[in-house]
Amino acid sequence: MSEYKTAIFDLDGVIVDTAKYHYLAWKCLADELGFEFTEHDNERLKGISRRKSLEILLDIGGMRLDEKTKITLSEKKNGWYVAFIKNISSKEILPGVIDFIKEIRSLGIKISLGSASKNARLILQNIGMTEYFDAIVDGNCVLKAKPDPEVFIAAAGRLGSERRECVVFEDAEAGIEAAKSAGMYAVGIGRRDILEKADIVVGGFSGSKDRKIIEELFK
Ligand code: BG6
Ligand code: MG
Repeated sequence: MSEYKTAIFDLDGVIVDTAKYHYLAWKCLADELGFEFTEHDNERLKGISRRKSLEILLDIGGMRLDEKTKITLSEKKNGWYVAFIKNISSKEILPGVIDFIKEIRSLGIKISLGSASKNARLILQNIGMTEYFDAIVDGNCVLKAKPDPEVFIAAAGRLGSERRECVVFEDAEAGIEAAKSAGMYAVGIGRRDILEKADIVVGGFSGSKDRKIIEELFK
């Protein structure tokens, strides 16, 4: 029997294709502030909190601003982002995700969300996936952002799971780092060159070869 009893999923870029909307919203802000912000720069923002992302963005633009302005800009970015995701639906769930979750649930695996996003519940509701999760830990529940392991440790705690029993699915470098410092098994979703600290990297949940590899973890 498998040593893994719990699966913890990141949300943005793992369950749903919201990473592109985060990028677009940050790009709107950079345009307004008058500097370039590329998709390559955006890799540094994946997985980390809104506030930390703003600090990195301002650093890229070579800007130093006071606290009040930072709060205003962070709210502005979120306003754009929420407008982008307002009409998001189950069509934007990434291929194979639902089938994979159903499959491992049928094996008795507990499922948790472990996301940095404060908009996670809104997204899960819009895509109709709330009921698939035994626990939801998001950006409103933790003080320290990924790469700190707090979010994953909290998810394991909510389910009464040992850390070593957990498998984390993540698309961001900061998320893989968080999973590894939590002492969990880390599956990278995406590119091996970016997610090199993961235990294994797969392209997604739909390819038959990838699917077999990740299902085997729980059998
Ligand atoms: C993560 C995203 O899941 O959530 C980041 O990968 C984002 O890009 C972070 O900044 C915080 O999200 P939100 O919705 O609280 O601004
Ligand atoms: Mg992500």
